[in-house]
Amino acid sequence: MPRILLGVCGGIAAYKALEFTRLATKAGHSVRVVQTEASTRFVGTASFAGITGAPVLITEWEPDPLRGVFPGDPLPEHAPLSHLALVEHADAYLIAPATAETLAKLACGLADNLLTAAALACRRPLIVAPAMNNAMYEHPATQANLATLRARGVTVLEPGVGPLGSPGEFGVGRLPEPPELLAAVETTFDASLRGVNVLVSAGGTREPIDAVRFIGNRSSGRMGFAVAEQAQRRGANVTVVAANVSLPRATGIEYVDVVTAAELADACAARFDACDVLIMAAAVADYRPEAAHGGKLKKDQTGEELNLRLVRTTDVLSSLADRRRPGQTIVGFAAEHGDGALAYGRGKLERKHLDAVVVNDVSGAGIGFDAADNEVWIVTAEGEHHVPKTSKDAVAAAILDAVLNHSSSNDTKVR
Ligand code: CTP
Repeated sequence: MPRILLGVCGGIAAYKALEFTRLATKAGHSVRVVQTEASTRFVGTASFAGITGAPVLITEWEPDPLRGVFPGDPLPEHAPLSHLALVEHADAYLIAPATAETLAKLACGLADNLLTAAALACRRPLIVAPAMNNAMYEHPATQANLATLRARGVTVLEPGVGPLGSPGEFGVGRLPEPPELLAAVETTFDASLRGVNVLVSAGGTREPIDAVRFIGNRSSGRMGFAVAEQAQRRGANVTVVAANVSLPRATGIEYVDVVTAAELADACAARFDACDVLIMAAAVADYRPEAAHGGKLKKDQTGEELNLRLVRTTDVLSSLADRRRPGQTIVGFAAEHGDGALAYGRGKLERKHLDAVVVNDVSGAGIGFDAADNEVWIVTAEGEHHVPKTSKDAVAAAILDAVLNHSSSNDTKVR
């Protein structure tokens, strides 16, 4: 679900921003709104909040109950700075209407309110829709500011010609109609995986020893969930087979909860034929206790020693890769420890007939299992790509880029 941040400035055309918000949410986008103080004299925050289902922010100083994320997204544990978090989570930032004053501030890099501070922090597509009286729009100062913004890569939507806000005034300066605003925003979205079915496994399986004990691993599911959310942002239809993951969940992604390797195998097998891309990020047990004890094992039953006999589980990735149909892309993970990690990863690529293997060396501090960051090598038949230590979101983006690059050089469904 694409996320749109809408900045509303103080102008008569602010009423059109309401209709834009209605259209955008109806089209399935998740929208948040920041307003300037002046704009609230034209349209109140309650109207935007009612349509978006999210609080509207005016200043940095008010706490954001949604902690910088968009409706439907999981709440982060800490309260971030709104001007940074909102643009980080948005897919595009539209400022409409953009007044002459705000355009001047943006051209100068001023950040004196939440709307302008967010624009300065914005690394996503920034689109401004000027709306003002024609004398103000045609003034050389405004034109110079717009030229500066264009030169910096900001998309400036041309205002329309027609009757202006005050009676009898006619000229250039009308805010484009809401459907045009929406079309302009939508052209900036990354739709590289639109219509593609992506199946992701995430988390770590648990193999029961008895009714209360299990053999598990340290995987939190963060990497798999990050891949799933990135794929959704690129327009994919995403299903996650989640093994014991307690993280917040995104709206619009289908989650299938499993516990054991056998359940994960069944859940993935049932959905494999329908998927175009399989990304096996789960840490799946290679062995399980041969027989789980029905109740809770008591020490007086087991004595001084407890011997567990472990048997191999099915290698889900290999068994699915063996029955792949043409056009499917399969990505495995390889958590390796210490020297030779890359060579092991390459071996896995060939042995399991995969399109890519994401190798991480879990001996490094602060990366991999149960950590917020990761550092990986993405190994494909074409070579390997190093992703230095960064957030799991950024690693997820790099993995999907690799999938897309690989697919463009092969006959797969992704492109
Ligand atoms: N995997 C799987 N089914 C299993 C075990 C692992 O599908 N029973 C998948 C994991 O999700 C991961 C990849 O296989 O994508 C790598 O798992 P790993 O256990 O490291 O691979 P192996 O080939 O078993 O190598 P090793 O000898 O290092 O265990």
